[in-house]
Amino acid sequence: MLRIIIPVLLLISTVSALFTASELEVVKNLCNDILDRKPVLIAGFVRLIFHDCVGGCDGCVNLNLENWNGDRPNAGLATSISVLNGKYVELQQTVNISRADFWATCSVEALERARFLATNDMSKSLNISMLYGRADCILELTTTNADRFPNPRAGLAETLAWCNNTFNFNSTWCVAILGAHTLGQARPSASGFRGRWVADARHLNNAYFQDLRDKRWLQVNRKTVADPRWQFQARGQSMFMMLNADMCLLRDIQPDSAGRVVDPLDATPESSTKDDVETFADDNEEWIRVFKAAFKSIIETLPDGAAPLESI
Ligand code: HEM
Repeated sequence: MLRIIIPVLLLISTVSALFTASELEVVKNLCNDILDRKPVLIAGFVRLIFHDCVGGCDGCVNLNLENWNGDRPNAGLATSISVLNGKYVELQQTVNISRADFWATCSVEALERARFLATNDMSKSLNISMLYGRADCILELTTTNADRFPNPRAGLAETLAWCNNTFNFNSTWCVAILGAHTLGQARPSASGFRGRWVADARHLNNAYFQDLRDKRWLQVNRKTVADPRWQFQARGQSMFMMLNADMCLLRDIQPDSAGRVVDPLDATPESSTKDDVETFADDNEEWIRVFKAAFKSIIETLPDGAAPLESI
């Protein structure tokens, strides 16, 4: 991997001095201006920071990355990146903040907005105590190994192993972080999958777990692209979907390499993570508590050799 063979100092620029609390307000306001104009980017910013932080948050995502079967794990992130980078050019005139810190700040503002949309209650703020000082990559290349990104066709063992290897998450944190899929949707033009996970796709709440547990799901190939895209579709509600990587949290599906699951769900054993799915489906505040800790941990994942983060 590039990051291993090129000395870290070449890839990582240093952030000279951290900004002040009032400058941080300017940054947050800018994130919120963007989200006011384009609420669809709530989900985009949350997905972007997760992809940026695979291999360490460094403000760079390789949009051209392709894996052995032609999947492009970062497809669909171009709009979020170009909107943020356009605003970053402006921001740099006044605040000395790294791009990676800017992206991370906007992802947290996006979550705050989605939490507010779900509750209509400012007192329900997530209050994520952020740390700063992420350094940007210097080359526009970052993670050059597509296998570091998760496989949407995978079953439970592969999904849990990915969570553990990438973010050091245990299975409960892995279940909780996948609840991020309560936001946004999958697009044929990006991943090739189609549909949204829940009805209110801008609300940060536990609807993902409730729908996973309560809807009746059937696997279909939506045929959105030439290669198969096997996904679970809610019976009678074709706009709602679950990937294998979502469904496996409830049922121990055994997908083949194309992602197809032959056994009917009713005849498939429960997963070892089913209790976590049910806990989060029953208790929104408990899900928010665990999700928040897991998300904070993702945005504090640093590339090898990076300086520790600091509070403002
Ligand atoms: C096993 C792990 C995961 C898999 C297999 C996975 C897979 C996917 C796929 C295939 C899409 C659709 C992309 C598109 O077509 O545009 C997607 C969307 C999304 N993912 Fe994940 N994901 C995983 C973990 C995560 C995590 C950890 C987060 C955040 C912390 C996240 C947040 C999102 C969001 C918010 C969207 C919607 C994006 C939008 O509407 O623009 N995902 N994910």
